[in-house]
Amino acid sequence: MKRDGASTSLWQFSMHDYQPRETQLSDMAYDVIIVGGGITGLSTGLMLQKSGKQCLIAEAKSIGFGTSGGTTAHLNTAMDTPYNEIEKSFGAEAAALVRKAASDAISLIRSNISAHHIDCGFSEQQAYIYSQDDEQSQELEKIFEASLNAGCVVHYADKIPVPIDFKKAVVFEGQAQFHPSKYLFGLAKAFEEAGGVIFNDCRVTSVSGNDELEIDSSRGKMKTNALIYATHVPPGVNLLHFRCAPYRSYAMAIKLADSNYPEGLAYDMYDPYHYYRTQEVDGQKYLIAGGEDHKTAHEENTNACFQRLEAYLSKYFAIGGISFKWSSQYYQPVDGLPYIGHLPGNPSNVYVATGYGGNGMTYSHVAAQLLTDIITKKVSPLEKLFSPSRTKPVAGFNDFVKEAADVVGTLIGKWFHSDNIDALGEIAKGEAKVVKYEGDQLAIFKDADGNLHAVNPACTHIDCKVAWNNAEESWDCPCHGSRFNIDGEMLTAPARKDLEKIDLRKKADE
Ligand code: FES
Repeated sequence: MKRDGASTSLWQFSMHDYQPRETQLSDMAYDVIIVGGGITGLSTGLMLQKSGKQCLIAEAKSIGFGTSGGTTAHLNTAMDTPYNEIEKSFGAEAAALVRKAASDAISLIRSNISAHHIDCGFSEQQAYIYSQDDEQSQELEKIFEASLNAGCVVHYADKIPVPIDFKKAVVFEGQAQFHPSKYLFGLAKAFEEAGGVIFNDCRVTSVSGNDELEIDSSRGKMKTNALIYATHVPPGVNLLHFRCAPYRSYAMAIKLADSNYPEGLAYDMYDPYHYYRTQEVDGQKYLIAGGEDHKTAHEENTNACFQRLEAYLSKYFAIGGISFKWSSQYYQPVDGLPYIGHLPGNPSNVYVATGYGGNGMTYSHVAAQLLTDIITKKVSPLEKLFSPSRTKPVAGFNDFVKEAADVVGTLIGKWFHSDNIDALGEIAKGEAKVVKYEGDQLAIFKDADGNLHAVNPACTHIDCKVAWNNAEESWDCPCHGSRFNIDGEMLTAPARKDLEKIDLRKKADE
């Protein structure tokens, strides 16, 4: 199974790409076209298809290619934005609505698994959040109170499932976990069996029109009465690019020498926090641990994130071997809640779901329910709360935008200068550099065979300069998270085009 990076996640292991049914492009107007074949696209597509809408999922690569294939698959009502913060920013009623939406999302996953007989290692779990100093303990008490008020089933615990010293711990009941690729493929099969159509390798390049939308794609022209971008941030330039920041998180699947695999989900309270759980895949148990999150393209040596994570874990766990390590991308919303609903600046029948933070598995199913309600004209109490057009003033919004832009200047300062193409020979195998060569900018990677791969580092979204991600061998954009492979091929939106490929031989001749 393919994914958007050079590393291999546990969820790709022994999985082959999902092969959709062969379907010809039709002249008919679909009720809904969903852009993106990740967990949001598939869960929403299935729900809409079951509600009587004729849907098509257009996936630019293959099912689960993006973040859904790189998640660590925690299903939580204990959200990344804790209930005390939701209560403070949006009110107690909103916190209760978020809690109920998250509980309903887990129930929806459970009912999908049962209705479609999806064998994906789903299990209910308890989730433990633990403090390790007095300041964290005070914060944990606030989280506990607000979680209780929001309707979570929570209580204090005197032990946690990981061998780490702690001061206080709170347990959330009714959480869960699963094997995300197996679940995703089960959804895809159920969607097709319900009459839905999936196109792999179908990149949507433009959308025009109003009531009936005309869509240009790499597979040809299509028509639809409604469109959903399930691509994290939508392509093009949109308000949401300034309200969601791209982050990378690092995960490992570890074999323990002593077999003391944690029972339950566990989270510390550092920023960024570490997270833990156990999953059995094909008869093998793994500790799945993660952390070291940072803004995309804000870390010069992303391999060092894995090294730091391993060093931290080895203090507490008897690591027998690291079977898989991978990183993936998520989008952090500026005010802490996701954006699900009508996409601002677009016709009224264009929708989006993004800004899930670290709760993508749960919020994907909140989006499935909410977008189905909106499109089938049902009233939902969540519509206003998660509206992408909400105008809630956000403290720190200016810093949020500035921080993304600042990194561009920082990275440019580290550029390598050369007036001689031969100097590129100094780049080591497996290394990449952004070079100023005779006034032009080149982003160059030397592969294991010594071949140079050169692209123009100007991101095709709105021209920020990409930075090298050595852990995933990709060029990542610090501004809105577009990512490209070593030859400039687009891996992640919001860009719509590949980076310009540069022929170095031709350039040297010139
Ligand atoms: Fe927006 Fe690169 S992703 S400029």
